[in-house]
Amino acid sequence: MKELLSIRNFKAYYQTSSEEVRAVDGISLDLNEGEILGIAGESGCGKSTFSISLSCLFPPPLKYISGEIFLDGIDITKLNTQEIRKSILGPKISFIPQSSMNALNPTIRIRNFAIDIVKQHEPKTTRENIIHRVIERFESLSLPKDVLNRYPFELSGGMRQRTLVILSTIMNPEIVIADEPTSALDVSSQREVIELLKIMVKKKIMKSLIFITHELPILRQIADGIAVMYAGQIVEIGSVSDILFNAHHPYADVLMSSMIVPEKGMREKNLPSVSGTPPDLRHAIKGCRFADRCPEFKKDCREKDIEMVELTKGSFVRCIHPLRTKK
Ligand SMILES: Nc1ncnc2c1ncn2[C@@H]1O[C@H](COP(=O)(O)OP(=O)(O)OP(=O)(O)O)[C@@H](O)[C@H]1O
Ligand SMILES: [Mg+2]
Repeated sequence: MKELLSIRNFKAYYQTSSEEVRAVDGISLDLNEGEILGIAGESGCGKSTFSISLSCLFPPPLKYISGEIFLDGIDITKLNTQEIRKSILGPKISFIPQSSMNALNPTIRIRNFAIDIVKQHEPKTTRENIIHRVIERFESLSLPKDVLNRYPFELSGGMRQRTLVILSTIMNPEIVIADEPTSALDVSSQREVIELLKIMVKKKIMKSLIFITHELPILRQIADGIAVMYAGQIVEIGSVSDILFNAHHPYADVLMSSMIVPEKGMREKNLPSVSGTPPDLRHAIKGCRFADRCPEFKKDCREKDIEMVELTKGSFVRCIHPLRTKK
């Protein structure tokens, strides 16, 4: 399988004159063609910041600190804003940001969003050609083309989100990053969005997908692999079945078991089975970031920073006393 994206020890912090929030603090991962990677973790662990950072545009106060993001072998952290806008955003990486469904300007017809998106990259393509291309895309995905003549508020939530998915991917990006694209939807609309994204990967409209969600049933439906984030870092990456049922990091283990029986409003609460809250990302943390809350805590967990270790092929954990290693 071809490797599309390779991230190495990447850090991006929110920096103001008075404080620094270490929201993304040393992330490494690889993404292959055809792969759907789910990202899970408690509110505030840095999922959205990580996804925004992948554009390498860093809207202030977010700042690039260090590390590399290789896309097709090129380190895009070294590109300038103009190069990113011209050759990365759209054709290489496309975003479906958190809460973007409600951000569509209600006074603009869907067809005009499509024209704007394509014109940014292909200013000479005619409106007719663009509309023709978009109609073909809607039809190939079995969606009604008359959506193009509607305003966003005329569409149901599910149809609006599916339309947004199609508009965001009209330039056939290699990688799509979807941040909680189903969180405001009812279960049947969620399923439609999931199916659409899966079909688009299968048809190679996009080569791979990073899907951020709080909802375990959705990860089970869509993802091939899962990365679990905690306090600005990935603590475990592995196949869906490994992470869901055989997690090695104690945080991944409690997160997954708490997700298996989702409680109403759980997202705003602490994890039910462990006490305490995630650490304050404004301060440097020595040793394991989950140490204060970890049911498996041992003295050496706080002695030095913990690196990711490969347990089996494709399965990495950031823990010096991982669970289930003898299995
Ligand atoms: N503009 C900002 N300035 C300073 N700190 C920020 C800013 N935006 C987010 N943060 C902080 O960065 C950390 C990571 O936030 P982020 O939104 O990436 O988390 P998340 O995992 O996406 O959460 P959620 O699940 O709620 O969407 C949090 O501590 C948050 O308070
Ligand atoms: Mg978020």
